[in-house]
Amino acid sequence: DRYDLLVVGSANADLVIGVERRPAPGETVLGSDLAVHPGGKGANQSLAAARLGARTALLARVGDDGHGRLLLESQRAAGVDTDGVLVGGAPTGVALITVDPSGDNSIVVSPGANGRLTPEDVRAAAPLLAAARVISVQLEIPPATVAETVRRRGPETRLVLNPSPPAPLPAEVLAACDPLVVNEHEARYILGDGAGRTPQDWAPALLALGPRSVVITLGAAGALVADSRTDSLDHLVSPEVEAVDTTGAGDAFTAALAWRLGRGDALREAAAFAVRVGAAAVTARGAQESFPTLEEVDAL
Ligand code: RIB
Ligand code: NA
Repeated sequence: DRYDLLVVGSANADLVIGVERRPAPGETVLGSDLAVHPGGKGANQSLAAARLGARTALLARVGDDGHGRLLLESQRAAGVDTDGVLVGGAPTGVALITVDPSGDNSIVVSPGANGRLTPEDVRAAAPLLAAARVISVQLEIPPATVAETVRRRGPETRLVLNPSPPAPLPAEVLAACDPLVVNEHEARYILGDGAGRTPQDWAPALLALGPRSVVITLGAAGALVADSRTDSLDHLVSPEVEAVDTTGAGDAFTAALAWRLGRGDALREAAAFAVRVGAAAVTARGAQESFPTLEEVDAL
């Protein structure tokens, strides 16, 4: 296989403003200077994996504009294969992000070119899909494009899906996930009123929907890993870190997990590594700028 990881997903310019608190409807607040960072859940994952040393490719669409060039340059500088990054059709996706003093963020995404990544684009990228051990997908691209990726993956290719932002998932997509990676918000969305009270209840309920394995990220509390093969439920704790900016930490987690699974790690082992990568990513500002190298993960 030419790639440890192929990410099929979004690329956004992140427009970030630090705020003391978020405005209520009708209210105006002043914030920090504007910072513009390369982001998007797909581009974040491919960059995070490449920084850890994975052979990584990205299938995405950006606009023919300055934001698109920012994204292409940052991916290439990190060593990501960008042959699968298509250009044009709409402006590059944009994420408007506010970060508060606790490091928490709120995000509004304008999909732009991400919304024009089509099932046909996926079919045209068949050689990329065939050359990857693991394919990782999120939901900032059209649902039909996600479904086509699932259908077109190679027979040996493992699929990792983070359903973010949450949206309905067809049974064929759920059944292909190994694992389905969700945070608490996404887990509650998928389970709806049937959600139990604790993440320990959610894991078996999510497995019952079809994925072979489930990972529930719990922020500072680490992650829960449920595997239908071993009928196991493990809680992996996170090292204690000072949170500066959580933006993209989930993406770094999922990328690290996907890469280690592709290298043959067991799910529990891969998730234990990913928890450390996610923890490192919250200790610095921005998404991609905060993603650690392998040495930085080891030092944690
Ligand atoms: O997960 C973080 C990402 O979500 C940001 O980089 C932003 O672009 C949004 O897609
Ligand atoms: Na960060």
